[in-house]
Amino acid sequence: LTRSLPAYCPPLRELPPFLRPSRRRIQLAFGLTETNGYVKYVWKDGAWGQQEWVAGSQIQIPVGSVALNYGASCFEGLKAFRQPDGQVKLFRPDENAKRMCHSASIVSMPDVPEDLFYEACHTAVGKNLEFVPPYAPHGASGSMYVRPLLFASGAELVPMAPKEFMFLVWVTPTGSLYGTSGGKAPAVDAFVIEEFDRAAPRGVGHAKLAGNYAPVFRHQAKAKKEGYAITLHLDSKHRTHIDEFSTSNFIGIKKPSGVADEKPTLVVPASESILKSVTTKSLIGIAESFGWTIERRPVPFQEVLEGGLSEVMACGTAAAITPIKTISYHLSADKLDKVAIGDGENAGPRTLELLAELTGIQAGDRKDERGWTWPK
Ligand code: COI
Repeated sequence: LTRSLPAYCPPLRELPPFLRPSRRRIQLAFGLTETNGYVKYVWKDGAWGQQEWVAGSQIQIPVGSVALNYGASCFEGLKAFRQPDGQVKLFRPDENAKRMCHSASIVSMPDVPEDLFYEACHTAVGKNLEFVPPYAPHGASGSMYVRPLLFASGAELVPMAPKEFMFLVWVTPTGSLYGTSGGKAPAVDAFVIEEFDRAAPRGVGHAKLAGNYAPVFRHQAKAKKEGYAITLHLDSKHRTHIDEFSTSNFIGIKKPSGVADEKPTLVVPASESILKSVTTKSLIGIAESFGWTIERRPVPFQEVLEGGLSEVMACGTAAAITPIKTISYHLSADKLDKVAIGDGENAGPRTLELLAELTGIQAGDRKDERGWTWPK
């Protein structure tokens, strides 16, 4: 893997007004900002071509493109953080590169080699450095969201893999999806979607395919209208076990038994239908280094109802760590119930410990002993 690309050393020049360091309290939303441009590669005749830089944010593809017509498209999400010394670092791009290859294989698309993936992210961030939010402790001013996108750009009428694919990396400065900012994390209400299954057993829920997201939009929108910030999915076969949130993984903290000096236990659902989140993997690594126990197993929803988890969090690149304060669900068609997590209001102490370590490493406040930030 290419590790010799130069470290970012950006001149802090010409910053868009909302990113100027003098603005001491930046609160970026999770949204789009037009940047200088994006990086593009085309796969043709069995190989990836040279890197191209495209100014602006437009793209031209045939109307018969297999991505547009039959949904052959997958994506990634990772973040770049401004460090205390002004450099900019990407968080675990190697993990996203591996996951993109997994997603690509599910919809018959070619692999993006890890070094090409990293080179693309490096260039996309490097040519948009002025859009990376300024340093703030624990990334409180936001980060640059990096969106690698791989799709079947070639045209075919027969539903089959075409002969041409595109790999793009575009970027935008953002905050987190549900309001987590640096070390602070407002807790949100969750709603269990029971009228729609996000991922079939033996289906494709484990891949980051574009098509896994759009079918959930209308259910999320309905839940949002009813006051729930985030939606949760149970397993599709029995609807008894927890899979994941629509946008992020589920992690719980087991209710302490009361034994003196007990270390916390992280409860991570094991399911073949959920996305392998880089954030979850990182939190497991952090929890292990704290000496906590990890239980990766099927998690019955009943365990939550019986108060078996003292903390619950939604974990992902966009969500960062979002604490959950209540989970609402329908036991029967006409009865809505609600279970409080912890005090039903605030993030729990273990959630905040994990958040402090994760965001500390990302923003360069804490030592990156595990070599997660790039360039190394
Ligand atoms: C991410 O967490 O980065 C994602 O790709 C989820 C998406 C719904 C924003």
